[in-house]
Amino acid sequence: MVKHENFKTCTQSGFCKRNREFADRAAESSWKSPYALDPASITFSKGQLSGTILKTINEGHEKASLPLTITFLDSGVARVTVDEERRQKGDITLRGDSKARKERYNEAGSWALVGGLAVSEGAALSDKAEQGYTKVFYGDGGKHQAVIRHEPFGIEFQRDSQTQIKFNERGLLNVEHWRPKIEKPVEEKKEGEEEKKEGEEEKKEGEEEKKKEEEKEEEPKGEDESTWWDETFGGNTDSKPRGPEAIALDISFPGYEHVYGIPEHATGLSLKTTRGGDGNYNEPYRLYNADVFEYELDSPMTLYGAIPLMQAHRKGSTVGVFWVNAAETWIDVVKSKTSANPLSLGTKSHTDTQTHWISESGILDVFVFLGPTPQDITRQYGELTGFTAMPQSFAIAYHQCRWNYVTDEDVKDVDRRFDKFDIPYDVIWLDIEYTNEKKYFTWDPLTFVNPDKMHKHLAKRDRKLVAIIDPHIKNTDNYPVIDELKKKSLAVKNKDGNDYEGWCWPGSSMWIDAFNPAAITWWKGLFKYDSFKGTASNTFIWNDMNEPSVFNGPETTMPKDNLHHGSWEHRDVHNINGMTFHNATYQAMLERKKGEVRRPFVLTRSFYSGSQRSAAMWTGDNLAEWSHLQASIPMVLNQGISGFPFAGADVGGFFGNPSKELLTRWYQTGIYYPFFRGHAHIDTRRREPYVPGAPYTGIITQALRLRYQLLPAWYTAFHEAATSGAPIIRPNFYIHPEDERGFAIDDQLYVGSTGLLAKPVTTEGATSVSVYIADDQPYYDYFDYTLYQGAGHHTIPAPLEKIPLLMQGGHIIPRRDRPRRSSGLMKYDPFTLVVVLGKDGNAEGTLYIDDGETFDYEKGAFIHRRFAFDAGRNILTSSNLAKPSNTVKTETYLKSMAKVRVEKIIIVGAPKEWKNKKEVNVMEEGAKESKRRKSVELKYYEGSGGKASWAVVRDPKVAIGKGWKIEFGESKGHGHAH
Ligand code: NOJ
Repeated sequence: MVKHENFKTCTQSGFCKRNREFADRAAESSWKSPYALDPASITFSKGQLSGTILKTINEGHEKASLPLTITFLDSGVARVTVDEERRQKGDITLRGDSKARKERYNEAGSWALVGGLAVSEGAALSDKAEQGYTKVFYGDGGKHQAVIRHEPFGIEFQRDSQTQIKFNERGLLNVEHWRPKIEKPVEEKKEGEEEKKEGEEEKKEGEEEKKKEEEKEEEPKGEDESTWWDETFGGNTDSKPRGPEAIALDISFPGYEHVYGIPEHATGLSLKTTRGGDGNYNEPYRLYNADVFEYELDSPMTLYGAIPLMQAHRKGSTVGVFWVNAAETWIDVVKSKTSANPLSLGTKSHTDTQTHWISESGILDVFVFLGPTPQDITRQYGELTGFTAMPQSFAIAYHQCRWNYVTDEDVKDVDRRFDKFDIPYDVIWLDIEYTNEKKYFTWDPLTFVNPDKMHKHLAKRDRKLVAIIDPHIKNTDNYPVIDELKKKSLAVKNKDGNDYEGWCWPGSSMWIDAFNPAAITWWKGLFKYDSFKGTASNTFIWNDMNEPSVFNGPETTMPKDNLHHGSWEHRDVHNINGMTFHNATYQAMLERKKGEVRRPFVLTRSFYSGSQRSAAMWTGDNLAEWSHLQASIPMVLNQGISGFPFAGADVGGFFGNPSKELLTRWYQTGIYYPFFRGHAHIDTRRREPYVPGAPYTGIITQALRLRYQLLPAWYTAFHEAATSGAPIIRPNFYIHPEDERGFAIDDQLYVGSTGLLAKPVTTEGATSVSVYIADDQPYYDYFDYTLYQGAGHHTIPAPLEKIPLLMQGGHIIPRRDRPRRSSGLMKYDPFTLVVVLGKDGNAEGTLYIDDGETFDYEKGAFIHRRFAFDAGRNILTSSNLAKPSNTVKTETYLKSMAKVRVEKIIIVGAPKEWKNKKEVNVMEEGAKESKRRKSVELKYYEGSGGKASWAVVRDPKVAIGKGWKIEFGESKGHGHAH
């Protein structure tokens, strides 16, 4: 069970408590938001509005100046920033002897954003603005409008004249302006009283609370200052040299009942409300990257990573906000239902979602997306923060990990057993025990005697090894890495400016400060083959514990008043910390050897917006329980719609020993995680797929083979993610944004654009599952073509050996059907195309392939095809989706693939007119005249017992990289039958 007492609740996090109380006060009718945009300050030029918000402070006697910018981007996205002039100018006094910076942290964007910032030329002030408002038209054709209210300050974002998003509608905007601490006289304590104090602390705290409550009653407007200047939690006191500096804002989505996103939480896809009530949460969703031991499910508690992107969805519209802040952040979600008004026609009942974003420090920096589709949000967010890096092809195959494979012989033994049982796998992993006493970049000389030989052994079947490297560096003698870290002063500092020392796996440790460019340069050197001896070109890296996890730190992480490069407090940058580390590792992987450029593979536990550019993630330390298997699906789906789709959960569950049934079902689910790895805690029994024995081993092997068979479809889905930001596995709402019944469905998934619909079995003893179908396309069982059709729930058989997987009509799915021991051995294997005819008889699909290893694809070395079956013309075609390019790289790659052919075409739902058909005509582009047109056998199989008919074209001998067409008969209107 998670130790709740180790992690703060909102009430224990001073700024969260203050802002929730602020929200409660703002709910009173007498409330007036003290923020006004000074109309005289407003200027507009080149797509950007600037002005000053004045915050009335000190009972109206003074005003704090808050510079505002609203930037309208070419993409139709708007960006709003609010800073605080006084801090911006450094016109404040830090408390204590703090060496921290005085400004509000304004660099989260520079870590998260990589593009999409071109400013709109067309954005323009409206000439019809009313008194008290400024209006700006922007977006494609001026479809978007920002209506800026001056007093109290607020913004409504409209699309086609309809308000989609409101800022400060509820008056919760709160920028805690700088103020000096007014020292109140404290009674001097006599010596000896100190100890007594400790024991009495709790009692006293209680009394103080009471006193404060009483004071509040006397002076209702008084602010609660108790957490302004320092804060103690779990025995650690945060010195807070800049005093209170939170920023908060309410963001409302009128007419939107569902909001998604803001990973990482172990919660459903459609977010629950957080201010109590039946079945709801009492705590806001928290984003404060932390190593949460034995995390609990269905909870808004923080986890290892943070992506402050939220999208709101209703029928016909998706919109979103991206809150660019790296400090501890809490998000309250409430919903309000407006019933239909029987007296006024047209007022339908609807639900509004209102959110309240609260960050401890930094500037306010928010991007606003107006959709209207879920695809628009993922694309625009991806343009800003970067798309998923195209992984090497092995990285999307199966990974075998445990804590720990204990010797190099053990690794080779596991490898041999996979082969003995004919189970495909690509990567074996080494957890922390491979090191010499937890000193990273070393090998335990007794257990890993010959790492070179081990790597060579794995390379025989094109297999890889991933070794763990964590950010804590053992503070010990005779370890050059720590010596250099200290000597070069590249470690994170404590508040006094000395190297911060904490406790992690190695005992006393220090942490590399990857915010420092010099630290990255140094880090790169450590991975060179001649530096990290025993590694090879098939070694890849796992970055764990990078929240950072500090065993003796507050909330298992670093003190907030620690200092990073540029004298920023850890408080300001906490949620970005993990990303800077895995980014550094990614860069290091690129430079291991001069001239050897391969796509790196780095797995990270901690992440932030932008992590997708250089890493894959997994959901950390789950439990070997059915509930955790269930929870993994919405968690991985959420990663997908939040721009970081290369995600997975530990297959089998990390803590505990899964039953054989659970393990089997977990593999059958894990084949749908974009990142697919089995992993287990050091105290668990071995559970590699060959361990459970019959029938489990065979069933698990079938599941693994299914993943391998569909690798071409997965790789194509990764390519889509890498070019459009689309998720790799997709929830119902993303595919069917009009289908209200499916908006909260998060226990089934679509694989890319393939139309493959999977409903994993996540309950014990199941023999069937209920799959939800959103549309009226025919859906066919993947294995036996049983037809399911009609919107609603369908029961499909799912005994242990059965993986419930459907194919939506209208798609063409690329596969490779020959079972191999690793994906590398499939490189030149032929393809099978499964043509799943839609209700109109048509189907289409795409395939993307490249060398799966280098960056040559960026220079045109890839194959990208579109396959289409046209029912009217009865023709299947392969056409080129790649832009014409004659680069040498393209030529060379196409040449290398020239012999790779399509060996089989299966047409599911084949029309009954084909029954007597014996052959089809095949034509390939560029083939010799004599071979241009050839006949190939067609076999028709009549379906019965609810199964569709299908047909097979065997070996049409067309190249995968070429254009071709196959005629299935005379051109005619379609005559489709199942
Ligand atoms: C914590 C990680 O979450 C887990 O996967 C790993 O096995 C242990 N650290 C040991 O490195």
